[in-house]
Amino acid sequence: MSTSKKDFGMIGLGTMGSNLVLNMSDHGYTVAGYDKDDSKGKKLVKEDQANGNVTSFNKVEDFISALSTPRNILLLVPAGPIVDAVISEIKAFLSEGDLIVDCGNSHFTDTQARVDALAKENIHFMGVGISGGELGARLGPSIMPGGNKEAFHRLENMLKDVSAKVDGEPCTAYMGSGAAGHYVKMVHNGIEYALMQLIAESYHILKVHGGFTNSEMHETFTNWNTGRLNGYLIEITAAILSQKDDRTDGMLLDMIADRAKSKGTGVWTSTDAMSLPAPIPSIDGAVTQRTLSGLQQERWIAAEYIGKRTEPTICTDKETLVTELESALYAAYLIVYAQGLSMLQVASKVYDYGIDIATVASIWRGGCIIRASLLVEITKAYNDNPDLSNLLLAPAFAEAIKTGEQSMRKINSRAIEQSIPVPVFCNTLNY
Ligand code: 6PG
Repeated sequence: MSTSKKDFGMIGLGTMGSNLVLNMSDHGYTVAGYDKDDSKGKKLVKEDQANGNVTSFNKVEDFISALSTPRNILLLVPAGPIVDAVISEIKAFLSEGDLIVDCGNSHFTDTQARVDALAKENIHFMGVGISGGELGARLGPSIMPGGNKEAFHRLENMLKDVSAKVDGEPCTAYMGSGAAGHYVKMVHNGIEYALMQLIAESYHILKVHGGFTNSEMHETFTNWNTGRLNGYLIEITAAILSQKDDRTDGMLLDMIADRAKSKGTGVWTSTDAMSLPAPIPSIDGAVTQRTLSGLQQERWIAAEYIGKRTEPTICTDKETLVTELESALYAAYLIVYAQGLSMLQVASKVYDYGIDIATVASIWRGGCIIRASLLVEITKAYNDNPDLSNLLLAPAFAEAIKTGEQSMRKINSRAIEQSIPVPVFCNTLNY
């Protein structure tokens, strides 16, 4: 085992933390890991055996002494009080100029409070949003760092190395001062909620009004993914539609209950949008639907009391339905990105973050959950006109919005007639 000081420290060796460490090690960085659960550290060191870049500790003093100075310590622990508990635990061992980097989904106000409190002791604190889930952390996520710019430069090369690449460009860049990194990640998640809800509504229309089988829907989403709707969420929707259930003869999707929980980032996005104010009705609607879906018992009772819906009419022209829905969904995607990015513009002014919208769009092109081909053109639109106040005002999208708006009207009115709920398609059209 090498005794030389490590480039980085990682606190929290769960799946996300371990995967990020392995990614860093693959790029030649040496890392000291710290987790009270020693078995996690031992497992990680074993997984890194071929590189030999990782050591692990379960005593905080040993962990801190293993780091080169000034120290760069990353945290991948659950957001909330645990972040504060970790900071208090390590603070006594830190020196001026050390850097703590919170890579979790922390609320931006918590991050700002930590930045301010630690700055008084000359310790840097950065909030870094990471998207892409466990696989992304291992193979290349989209990374949204914010905070002190000098401190950021100590991480910059490593973040570029471990992030996803699109056309050779890293999906990471400095987002802005203070809590900008966590703010951008929060809005990313808000957009994620709305896109997921729009896909769910599209699925429902195809299934109930289109009379499509799972296999036909698999084919539809697969085709969409080869066109202008190409993106991660469309890709995984196509995949789940062909996934067999391993416990029955049926399909996995048909076994999943129609209720969902959330970790809260969508609620944070809507709450802050209301107070900025910045209108994001598609995201608000998606957050509401997520909560409403959880009221399954009430929905069942209401169905008994208020009456079940009438049987829908199956449409006879499936091809036209798919064409119209694709056009509606594409326009809706654009409108959702427009809402999220406009909110970031407003927030950047209010909180003085200095966020560059073209940069945000460009680092979302790969690695993250909302990655989509469309972000290439969105990046171009903001590069062409950095003062663009709303994506819908970019000439490049005018035609798609005009056609998509007509399609959305047809799709929404037919869905309403057929008792198929389309709340987020409606909010999107109304915006
Ligand atoms: C990501 C994801 C990830 C997760 C969110 C949302 O970017 O990797 O956004 O962070 O999907 O935490 O979770 P909920 O949808 O459960 O709120």
